[in-house]
Amino acid sequence: MIGKRNKFSSKFGFIAAAAGSAVGLGNIWKFPFEVGRSGGAAFLLLYLLFCFVLCYPLLITEIAIGRNAQKSPVGAFKAIHHRQWTFMGILGVLCGVLILSFYNVVTAWVFGYFIEMLLGNFEVGRQFTTFTSDIEMIGGYSLFILAVVAFIVSRGVTRGIEKASKVLMPVLIGILIFLIIYSLTLDNAIEGIKFYLIPDFSKISIDVVYRALGQAFFSLSLGMGILITYGSYLKSREDIVFSGAIITLADILIAFLAGLMIFPIVFSQNIQTDGGPGLIFITMPGIFQAMGPAWGIAIGSLFFLLLTFAAITSIISLLELPVSYLVDQHEIKRDYAVWISAGIIFLLGIPSLIGNGYSEYFTHFIRYYGSEASIDFMTFLTDVSSNTLLPFVGFLTSIFAVYVWKRKKLFRELHHGNEHFKNSWLSNYVGFCLQFIAPVVLAITFILTILEIFFGIYIFS
Ligand code: PHE
Repeated sequence: MIGKRNKFSSKFGFIAAAAGSAVGLGNIWKFPFEVGRSGGAAFLLLYLLFCFVLCYPLLITEIAIGRNAQKSPVGAFKAIHHRQWTFMGILGVLCGVLILSFYNVVTAWVFGYFIEMLLGNFEVGRQFTTFTSDIEMIGGYSLFILAVVAFIVSRGVTRGIEKASKVLMPVLIGILIFLIIYSLTLDNAIEGIKFYLIPDFSKISIDVVYRALGQAFFSLSLGMGILITYGSYLKSREDIVFSGAIITLADILIAFLAGLMIFPIVFSQNIQTDGGPGLIFITMPGIFQAMGPAWGIAIGSLFFLLLTFAAITSIISLLELPVSYLVDQHEIKRDYAVWISAGIIFLLGIPSLIGNGYSEYFTHFIRYYGSEASIDFMTFLTDVSSNTLLPFVGFLTSIFAVYVWKRKKLFRELHHGNEHFKNSWLSNYVGFCLQFIAPVVLAITFILTILEIFFGIYIFS
């Protein structure tokens, strides 16, 4: 261990950083299109259910593990005296690195769109594939974003991560509120709100349930040890139970507000709500164009700036994962650890970068026999990392916490900083969710995903 462990200097700093990790493209890009194609509010309700029943208990567990061990994931499992669980930490770091390799490319698109909107080039939506095939431009943006984040992370926990999050998160919320107010004044806004807030339960299928679960998990940055890492930078008197609740609620609230911003805008132009992933990249520029040049440029560029900021705070946490591993386990100086990790991640991102139109091979990375269908490398990587590995590690974390580390020790850690927790209804609730609900639900999800991805067996669709 090199020197004293750098800590978050305040409760707000910790919450801003952890909420910054949680709030990202998952909330503002993915959540609205999932709601859009899954019939509106019914999806929203399922998502809320999973956040409360699964994610919140797992979130505070991860933070408690980190704080107890005072180490990032790989060292944390070792420090809690269960050497054989170290692989979980390694799996988490690996998963984070894979996710960041493509997340960074999507962020480069978002940033590129910000520039295009500033230039008033609304046509970009119609030429999305041409845009993503321009790998020199996208590669340049992606290097730029990584370099900015690497600079922030290299400054350490307090002066880098905490400081950047404390500025970016409030700015993000400010832009979001401004855009919501604007979108609510548009014609037909009420139709968008109705679609969003009145549930249509006939749309709920097992497939929708399954997507809502994945969404809740990804959105809260669970299952790869990011919160273990941030927990290890937390002072022992901080209240994990309360901070965890604020982080969960902030993530839910921002996803909810993103829907409130997007649906009135979409309905104001009578556009289909089930645009899928292209909702933001293909549909939105056309909508901004219809607002006329001045409003279009202003609202369009603010919108993509918002997405860029949200993504940057998530990338910070994803980069901190391998960095803290190198610093804690291999005693490499933070500066070196940061630039080495960023370099490797950029290289690993190349297949995702060229797999969206530029390289035929990576664009149709997996072809299905006997049909025209194929998936690109980035989609493949999303399936492997976020849809398979995250629930798997989440499943193991719940087992580890209650059966290996033991519920009593976990609760003792949570008790530090919150004296009312022990023997409260909340502790019974958290214990029940961790012991019974999380393992069962996550194991089922994992098995279904494996069947679907690797064997092409779709049980629910
Ligand atoms: N939670 C982030 C989002 O919603 C993404 C993320 C996933 C960040 C996993 C870190 C780890 O976009």
